[in-house]
Amino acid sequence: MLNKHNNSLTGFSGQFSAKLAKEVARELGQKLGKIEFRKFSDGEIWLKYKEDIRGKDVFIIQSFPPPAENLLELLLMLDAAKRALAKKVVAIIPYFGYGRQDKKEQPGEPASQRGEPISAELMVKLLFSAGADRILTIDFHSDKMNAAIRNVFTESIFLPNAKKYLGESLRDLAILTPDLGRIGAAKRYARQLRNCPVVVINKERTKPNQVRVGGISGEVKDKTVLIVDDIVDTGNTLVAAANTAKKMGAKKIFAFVTHALFSGEAVEKINESPISRLFISDTIPFSSEKRSNKIKLVSVAPLLAQAIREIGKN
Ligand code: R5P
Repeated sequence: MLNKHNNSLTGFSGQFSAKLAKEVARELGQKLGKIEFRKFSDGEIWLKYKEDIRGKDVFIIQSFPPPAENLLELLLMLDAAKRALAKKVVAIIPYFGYGRQDKKEQPGEPASQRGEPISAELMVKLLFSAGADRILTIDFHSDKMNAAIRNVFTESIFLPNAKKYLGESLRDLAILTPDLGRIGAAKRYARQLRNCPVVVINKERTKPNQVRVGGISGEVKDKTVLIVDDIVDTGNTLVAAANTAKKMGAKKIFAFVTHALFSGEAVEKINESPISRLFISDTIPFSSEKRSNKIKLVSVAPLLAQAIREIGKN
C-alpha cells in the first residue's frame, strides 16, 4: 500500500487495529503489507515483516488502549521497521492510549501531594525512541503534545451526520462540552453549525472515572443539545452531562464522542440515559455485543486515508 502513485509507501497493521487498517487500505485502493505475529509460550510478542521495506516510507496503524500488549506490539513494529532500514516510519495511532494523564499537577495541589506521571508525554517519548519519525493520531485528549505529534479531528466525519440527524433542530442547537479541556472542539463544531452557542459543564473529577457535575455555564432550555467529547469510557461523564442538560430543560440530546472505550456498564448507562443518539467512531473496534439502537458507528477510515495521502505527498 498505500498510495497508487508512490511505490515506496508501505502500510502495516498491528493486530488490534486490523479491521480499521484494512478499511484505510481499501480507501486508498491498496493492500496492507505482510507481517507475521507469534508469541513465546509466556506471552512475549514476536513479529517479523514479510516484505522488504528497505528505503520505503512505512505507515504502521495501531491503536493502543490497555492491555499494554497493544502498545508493546506497536513499539516492536517501529523498532523492527527501523532495523529493516525503512526510510521513514510513521505511527498512525487512531486511539492514543495513556493520553489522559497529561498534567504536572492538579490545580491548587500542594507540592507535597504531587506524584502522578505525565503518561501522555511518556508515550510520545517511547514511540519516538522505538523508531517513529512521525506520529499521527485522532482527537488526542491533550493539546499539550501538539508540537510533537500531528492531531487530526473528527469533525469532518461527524458533521455530515449532524446535518442529517439534527435536521430541523439545527436552528435551536447548543453544543455542550463536558469539560473545559474540550472547549476547542466545541467551538470548532459551533462555527460549522450556524455559530450556535457553546455551553460548558462545570465538572469536578473526584477520582479516575468519577465526576461531580456542578451545573452548566450557558442556556440549554428548549434547545437541542449536542454533547461533544473525545472519550467515552465508563459513560459517567457523558451520562452526567446528558442528565444535567435534561434537568436544565434541554429538548433533545445527541452526542458525538470519538473514542468508545465502553468499559463496564457504559452501554447500559447510555441506553437508560436521555441521549437520543450517540455517534462514535471505530478508532476502537466496536464489539457486536455492545450494539444498541442509540449508538451509531462512523468510520475514521476516510479521515486516516486522507491524512496518509497528505503525509505521502510530503
Ligand atoms: C475526560 O477528561 C475525557 O475527556 C472524558 O470525558 C472521560 O475520559 C470520559 O470518561 P468516562 O466515560 O469514564 O466518564
